[in-house]
Amino acid sequence: MNNYKVKFAGVSMSVPDKVLTNADLEKMVDTSDEWIRTRTGMVERRITDENTAASDLSYKAIEKLFKTVDIKQKDIDLIIVATISPDHLFPSTACILQKKLGLPPVPAFDLSAGCTGFIYAVTIAKRFIECGMSKNALVIGVELLTKITDWTDRNTCVLFGDGAGAAILTKAKKGEISEIVDTYINADGKYGDLLYMPAGGSRMPATTYTVKKNLHTLRMEGNKIFKAAVKAMGDAAVTILQRNGLTGEDIDWLIPHQANLRIIDATARRIKLPPQKVIINIEKYGNTSSATIPMAFAEAVEDGRIRRGDMVLLDAFGAGFTWGSVLLRY
Ligand SMILES: CC(C)(COP(=O)(O)OP(=O)(O)OC[C@H]1O[C@@H](n2cnc3c(N)ncnc32)[C@H](O)[C@@H]1OP(=O)(O)O)[C@@H](O)C(=O)NCCC(=O)NCCS
Repeated sequence: MNNYKVKFAGVSMSVPDKVLTNADLEKMVDTSDEWIRTRTGMVERRITDENTAASDLSYKAIEKLFKTVDIKQKDIDLIIVATISPDHLFPSTACILQKKLGLPPVPAFDLSAGCTGFIYAVTIAKRFIECGMSKNALVIGVELLTKITDWTDRNTCVLFGDGAGAAILTKAKKGEISEIVDTYINADGKYGDLLYMPAGGSRMPATTYTVKKNLHTLRMEGNKIFKAAVKAMGDAAVTILQRNGLTGEDIDWLIPHQANLRIIDATARRIKLPPQKVIINIEKYGNTSSATIPMAFAEAVEDGRIRRGDMVLLDAFGAGFTWGSVLLRY
């Protein structure tokens, strides 16, 4: 059994141009800029047009990505797309992207783990490369949540946005400092009904009734999820640090899932990380589910905050419930 070291070769992001501000939302539902800012930290989010799907936004991020890495498109031999808003239930968005990229047959699949999707996808891609099954994995977190949002529900419609993040994982060379040190994933299905989309699957296929009742949109019990997220994201950070003999002091950057600024602050406090070491972009993009982490990662690499050799902790929580963390030296 091989045990190759795996690293992030690069990471990139893409968002639609159209901006939806808190002021815009004030005109749509009974809410206020002040409420949204103080309760969530969000100021604006991006929203796709009706012709754009998950694979389109992903493709833009991938095009940018190949300009920053010395890996060729033709050398990708695994595609994993983490999403709960794919182009279609099937075929997978990963297969659609494989076609768009003109790749020969390689394993390609989607993964549903809510907002923890990117952490799950990185975990799986790392294992594929470690054991020698793949050399260069394209790992994507993409979400067009505004397409499954109930725009009459102020409890949810202010929270979500669209975006894509793409990364390439590859074998680290001998002696190289960059490596994914460890990954941790977990789930507890008994809380599934606190955040879900009622219709559109085999439980409740599309009918005129489901469309009339707006059942193809996301439902959430925000307050219960808030409490669970604070605990699970803190636990995920502590678990991965402890089992690697580290503390918050060893971390250069925390990249948390961007669901709520108060959840992010609580997570950083739990591992005693000062705010200046936390990558936050929730004010610009809102919650883009499985895309928040690769998007924040890409922005911080692009603007030079995260550099090669930095110790980075990724940490997420999402529908399922799912939660997990990744510890890496970039
Ligand atoms: C959704 C969330 C921002 C709500 O904040 P909260 O402090 O928990 O607020 P509550 O749900 O307790 O609601 C407080 C009040 O604000 C109201 N409210 C909810 N949304 C509102 C909005 N957009 N504008 C104004 N008021 C709003 C509620 O109706 C409630 O009013 P009431 O007290 O009269 O009943 C917060 O719970 C959260 O971020 N949860 C996690 C969401 C999440 O992460 N989801 C994805 C999984 S990763």
